[in-house]
Amino acid sequence: MLSLFTVEEVLAATHGATEDLAGAQFGSISIDSRELGPDALFVAIKGDRFDGHDFVEQALQSGAAAALVSRGGGAQHIVVPDALDGLRDLARAARSCSRAIIVGVTGSAGKTTTKEAIRTVFEAVGETHASIKSFNNHWGVPLMLARMPASAQFGVFEMGMSGPGEIRSLTQLVRPHIAVITTIAAAHLEAFGSLEGIARAKAEIFAGLEPGGTAVLNADHPQLGGLLDQASADGVGNIVTYGEARGVDWQILDVHMAADKSFASIEHDGVRHSLVLNVPGRHMVANATAALAAAYLAGVEINVALRALAGFALQAGRGKRLVLGPDETPLLLIDESYNANIASMRAALDVFAAQQAPLGRKVVVLGDMLELGAQSASLHASLGDAVLTSGAERIYLVGPAMDALAEELGRDQVTAHTKTAAEMAPILRNDLAYGDAVIVKGSNGVGLSTIVENIAKQFGRN
Ligand SMILES: Nc1ncnc2c1ncn2[C@@H]1O[C@H](COP(=O)(O)OP(=O)(O)O)[C@@H](O)[C@H]1O
Ligand SMILES: [Mg+2]
Repeated sequence: MLSLFTVEEVLAATHGATEDLAGAQFGSISIDSRELGPDALFVAIKGDRFDGHDFVEQALQSGAAAALVSRGGGAQHIVVPDALDGLRDLARAARSCSRAIIVGVTGSAGKTTTKEAIRTVFEAVGETHASIKSFNNHWGVPLMLARMPASAQFGVFEMGMSGPGEIRSLTQLVRPHIAVITTIAAAHLEAFGSLEGIARAKAEIFAGLEPGGTAVLNADHPQLGGLLDQASADGVGNIVTYGEARGVDWQILDVHMAADKSFASIEHDGVRHSLVLNVPGRHMVANATAALAAAYLAGVEINVALRALAGFALQAGRGKRLVLGPDETPLLLIDESYNANIASMRAALDVFAAQQAPLGRKVVVLGDMLELGAQSASLHASLGDAVLTSGAERIYLVGPAMDALAEELGRDQVTAHTKTAAEMAPILRNDLAYGDAVIVKGSNGVGLSTIVENIAKQFGRN
């Protein structure tokens, strides 16, 4: 069995106490009593909706080897003052005995995709531990770190934020050798006030950079200057830039798009490399280039990295393409229902512009971009151009914030606008047909994933 921690190591790291458990070893760590790995240590943290302490008995009955708790006690319990702090202690312990090359990824969009691209490359060359899904917050990051086996040669961690100071505490746990910032854009604007504020908060990632470490920065956004200033203020010695902008270290050139592939040349140190991706999108080329730069810094040969990236695939909700129904006249469904902000909306509409409808019409279903604060209306309205150039013949809008876009486009240009995804579902059921190309994109909270599921169910039979 893989052992992450012995009970003695847990007690030493957390200053916890236990009445039994001598000699126990933990092979996995979980905060969810329904998802226990072998010989699990269940950590009872308090989340937004649930308190893990209510599930300790269930976890132990389901086979957890022990529970790390801040209250209660008894058989198989390890008691610490605060279970979340205990989880952070385990994260620090795992980090400090690791000899892996560690990459941290943050940014306003593209974190998960870039993290997965880096994982893909590292997995081609060695034992790799990477965050799952978007486990990137105050409990997700320590959980992912605590799960890192001592044998890992590479570690990749996603870091997210909803307010200032959060990236700082995460990066101080992760202590990356390579810190990637994918882009700066208006997301969570409410909490930060301005783009500069967002850039400052993302730049907190430098605070945890290991001595001699390297910052890898996307250069294709107006906040690059702010990031560079912050990097030098934080004493970051090595900075590597990438993007389509001139003069960067990893220069993206000649981007071409097919319906389901991307091609580009990447110039580095005067040498051109050709990048082929199995996914469409300029932003995907950018994310892959970040992965290439990070991998190169980690000692991976460029050709090995390029070969690995050619096999990189997308996940549900982030541009995954479903071809539904008959081969001759399928309905093409692009699932972008997982998230939306101004950068990702533009990127997705840009990809859709290059998309042909197999037979019929091009259809966009767009939901609100949430948490944009006072600038919400103007940002929604600013999508007008991108919607028009996408070639959409039918425009469906979901959510109150989309009012501003409807206004911008002219209400008679909008096929339907509903408050909720539930109201939109039956409208689409009637309107869509085989041969259409449909993109569905909105913030996760708008619930467009149910629309994706409905369309997949309705058209998914041959
Ligand atoms: N580099 C990028 N710039 C702008 N938008 C991007 C970028 N990478 C991905 N996106 C868009 O953002 C969406 C979410 O991507 P994801 O990698 O999950 O980001 P995050 O983890 O930062 O939320 C994707 O569906 C895509 O539309
Ligand atoms: Mg993510």
